[in-house]
Amino acid sequence: MPQKIISPSLLAANFGKLDEACQIINNSEAEWLHIDVMDGVFVPNISFGFPVMEAVRKASTKPLDVHLMIVHPEKYVERFVDAGAFSVGFHLEAVEDPRPILKLIRDKGAKTCLTINPDIPVELLYPYLEEIDMALLMSVFAGYGGQKFIPETYQKLDALRNEIDKRNLSTLIQIDGGVNTANAPELFKRGADSLVAGSAVFSAEDPIKTIKMMKE
Ligand code: DX5
Ligand code: ZN
Repeated sequence: MPQKIISPSLLAANFGKLDEACQIINNSEAEWLHIDVMDGVFVPNISFGFPVMEAVRKASTKPLDVHLMIVHPEKYVERFVDAGAFSVGFHLEAVEDPRPILKLIRDKGAKTCLTINPDIPVELLYPYLEEIDMALLMSVFAGYGGQKFIPETYQKLDALRNEIDKRNLSTLIQIDGGVNTANAPELFKRGADSLVAGSAVFSAEDPIKTIKMMKE
């Protein structure tokens, strides 16, 4: 049964007031807090790393859902679990073989997530669906917040939902990029379990209400 998990992306928060941003999310109906880590190599942008994540861990009462947009995730996944990640995701197209990296994450006791950019066929995730906790479909190209939702994501979502249901798996589906109150209901209806929303939440006049509206 699909769930409705909102994971606001901290990337869109005011970094001068991270504590305040965490408080807002703590007081909201969001289930998780999404942490976007960029290395300037896998994606052109650089965001933040362990020290920020540790500060956020202290300020946030929500499970931290970490999205690594980095090359060589195998070097860092364990440290992200130590820094407080409850789930660690990395890009399939960033690695040769995701299996040993998934094992590193699992052995540390965290949830696993595999993600793909919009130009990667969704079928490439199918061999791993049994062994991951979540599959993340990017609905914008990873690298920046505030981009426009790519509508082709709907077809990928339909295909993935169908495959997971057909095989009777409990793998969650997350959608990330350009999610807002207008497309969230459709994404949940089509079987997404979790939605990441950055600018839609943090640029809103009332982030708490916006999160609530996404679930309706
Ligand atoms: C994009 C990040 C997303 C992004 C979402 O590289 O992975 O999580 O912060 O931001 P919005 O919701 O603004 O598209
Ligand atoms: Zn993300």
